[in-house]
Amino acid sequence: MGAIALTFSLIVFRIVAPNLKLQSVIIKNLKFNSSSSPPYLNMTFIAEIQIKNDNFGTFKFQNSSTSVFYNGTLIGTSGFLGGEVRGRETEIMNVTMKVSSNVWVNQTYLNSDLNSGLVKLRSYADFRGKVRVLKIARQSKVSVLDCTMNLNLTSKAIQDLLCEES
Ligand SMILES: *[C@@H]1O[C@H](CO)[C@@H](O)[C@H](O)[C@H]1NC(C)=O
Ligand SMILES: *[C@@H]1O[C@H](CO)[C@@H](O)[C@H](O)[C@H]1NC(C)=O
Ligand SMILES: *[C@@H]1O[C@H](CO)[C@@H](O)[C@H](O)[C@H]1NC(C)=O
Ligand SMILES: *[C@@H]1O[C@H](CO)[C@@H](O)[C@H](O)[C@H]1NC(C)=O
Ligand SMILES: *[C@@H]1O[C@H](CO)[C@@H](O)[C@H](O)[C@H]1NC(C)=O
Ligand SMILES: *[C@@H]1O[C@H](CO)[C@@H](O)[C@H](O)[C@H]1NC(C)=O
Ligand SMILES: *[C@@H]1O[C@H](CO)[C@@H](O)[C@H](O)[C@H]1NC(C)=O
Repeated sequence: MGAIALTFSLIVFRIVAPNLKLQSVIIKNLKFNSSSSPPYLNMTFIAEIQIKNDNFGTFKFQNSSTSVFYNGTLIGTSGFLGGEVRGRETEIMNVTMKVSSNVWVNQTYLNSDLNSGLVKLRSYADFRGKVRVLKIARQSKVSVLDCTMNLNLTSKAIQDLLCEES
């Protein structure tokens, strides 16, 4: 009896960081020119993010943001409001970012990537919050999404999506 109760409480009260997954990326309003001065890349980047909360308690996360980087330079960001994902549930949210190459982007690299038809991008987001199981256990957790991908200028779509497991 004691062993069962112990096993039960070990499962119920074990708190893990919710799992984030970049479900898909939709590209809209893609505009680019490799031969203009400076070369530019503009688009609307819609990230569909899945948050899977395996805990038995609700995960409440704070306001945060998602970002898109090109060659280590931030080219788009968007904030999102805090919220919550109930225990054993999965939520999907869309975050829309206006992405635009800027003066900090290395023009030599951008010109050559635009000519190649494939632009490597990185997308990052973190969700910071607390998981609370019943009124007993409470822990701060950070879930991170860190993915690289290629933007194919011909298909105007994202391919080779690769995310770091955290
Ligand atoms: C790209 O820029 C070049 C040089 O400024 C210009 O001649 C060309 O018309 C532009 N192409 C597009 C599609 O805007
Ligand atoms: C690209 O986006 C920037 C910032 O939103 C804007 O200032 C610029 O006019 C856009 N360029 C084109 C060609 O759409
Ligand atoms: C989250 O963002 C909203 C809207 O910008 C703001 O009203 C609220 O105070 C923010 N919450 C925190 C904890 O910063
Ligand atoms: C930027 O691109 C160049 C050329 O592809 C590459 O050598 C360099 O490592 C990149 N830097 C970052 C921070 O990604
Ligand atoms: C996110 O946006 C895509 C494309 O607009 C849509 O198909 C999908 O249903 C949206 N997901 C959510 C959770 O709103
Ligand atoms: C871009 O990178 C190249 C190769 O590393 C370098 O020679 C050039 O100075 C860089 N340009 C800018 C604007 O940083
Ligand atoms: C980019 O997309 C086009 C059209 O879908 C495809 O033919 C091409 O193979 C893709 N490029 C790469 C490098 O995958």
